[in-house]
Amino acid sequence: MTRRRLPRPSDVLPLIGMPDRTLTSLQRRLERCASVWDVRAMARRRAPKAVFDYVDGAAMSETSLRRSRDAFRRVEFTPRVMRNVADVDTRVEVLGRSSELPFIFAPTGFTRMMHTEGEPAVARVAADKGIPYGLSTLGTTSIEDLAATSPDTRRWFQLYVNRDRTEPEELMRRADATGYDTLILTVDTAVGGIRRREVRNGLTIPPQLTLGTMAEMALHPRWWFDVLTTEPLGFASLTSTGGTVGDLLTRVFDPGVTGDDITWIRENWSGRVMVKGIQSVDDARLAAQLGVDAIVLSNHGGRQVDMGNAPLELLPDVMSAVGERVEVYIDGGIMSGTDVVAALAFGARGVLVGRAYLYGLMAGGEDGVRRVADILEKEVRTTMQLIGARSLDEVRGTEVRLRTS
Ligand SMILES: Cc1cc2nc3c(=O)[nH]c(=O)nc-3n(C[C@H](O)[C@H](O)[C@H](O)COP(=O)(O)O)c2cc1C
Repeated sequence: MTRRRLPRPSDVLPLIGMPDRTLTSLQRRLERCASVWDVRAMARRRAPKAVFDYVDGAAMSETSLRRSRDAFRRVEFTPRVMRNVADVDTRVEVLGRSSELPFIFAPTGFTRMMHTEGEPAVARVAADKGIPYGLSTLGTTSIEDLAATSPDTRRWFQLYVNRDRTEPEELMRRADATGYDTLILTVDTAVGGIRRREVRNGLTIPPQLTLGTMAEMALHPRWWFDVLTTEPLGFASLTSTGGTVGDLLTRVFDPGVTGDDITWIRENWSGRVMVKGIQSVDDARLAAQLGVDAIVLSNHGGRQVDMGNAPLELLPDVMSAVGERVEVYIDGGIMSGTDVVAALAFGARGVLVGRAYLYGLMAGGEDGVRRVADILEKEVRTTMQLIGARSLDEVRGTEVRLRTS
């Protein structure tokens, strides 16, 4: 029979959890997010619907994005145990410099719309984590301002090629002059993808004040307060605006970009060149022949062509074809550190993540981006330890397959 007694205050007091007073309430809420999916749920509550959908959505039926994510669900490791995994090394050589972690913050357009802290916040977290960050041609912070506010970040510049070549030449010159060391040429955007959520939400660039948005204001006053009381939202490197992002891509950028433009880029850019948006083995071969330093197997996070293939599924064939000649990265649908490790196990040198950090930005500005990076870092380390890989080279040698069901 259990003997009972009345609890004494000295028994109860130590059990009362006190909030960590060194954290703000926002940071405490972020701490309770156990996954990037949880951060996404928080972002959904905090950002206006049109903004959340701009990030979360993809092209047409959104099948390309779903396929990219589903491919990661089919991953099956064969974990090795009884190895000393007390210390794991997550460093990797990325285009001539060491990165602390095998993920890179991908270039994303209109970043200050997600949170007014925008690109400088993302860049600060990248610097703290020792990883690169790519500023987009459609960025909302100028090349020079980002260099000035984030001198310690390894900065890359992502280029969309205008019909008039003098504009991209000028952008390359400015990025070169301010210490960006890699140019990401995005090649999956011959025209803008058809993003239905943007049409349905009436999202235009810049966002318009309509009756609908006014009603939204009442639901997300903090976001609107930020937008209306800080530097107006606009592209920093582009003079043209109006319409949806898809319309803009089609109107301003050149659908005539070919392999010949790599030669033109080499004439205008002294750093490394990465081509992003490769979706076939043949184009991976072509890019390697053209002498680029790296390729990213990417379908733009499913935001361009619908019914495309999943970069993870394409990766083994691309590795066999060009893995010795260029560095191969993938992106699209990466939501966890396990996804990152899986991509490396299939041969990628590293991955780019887009939405994951943007969910963080919408959920809590710089704090949110940091929370996402912390979650990904912890998941990368833990997955490595649990599959018995002490380094990323060992991850690449690990046994892995894609289940068929
Ligand atoms: C909101 C948003 C904006 C993006 N803008 C750009 C861009 O301006 N330039 C570019 O090359 N890629 C852009 N991308 C694609 C990303 O660089 C990356 O390929 C993609 O986000 C990877 O998929 P993930 O978001 O599922 O991680 C954008 C992606 C998102 C989600």
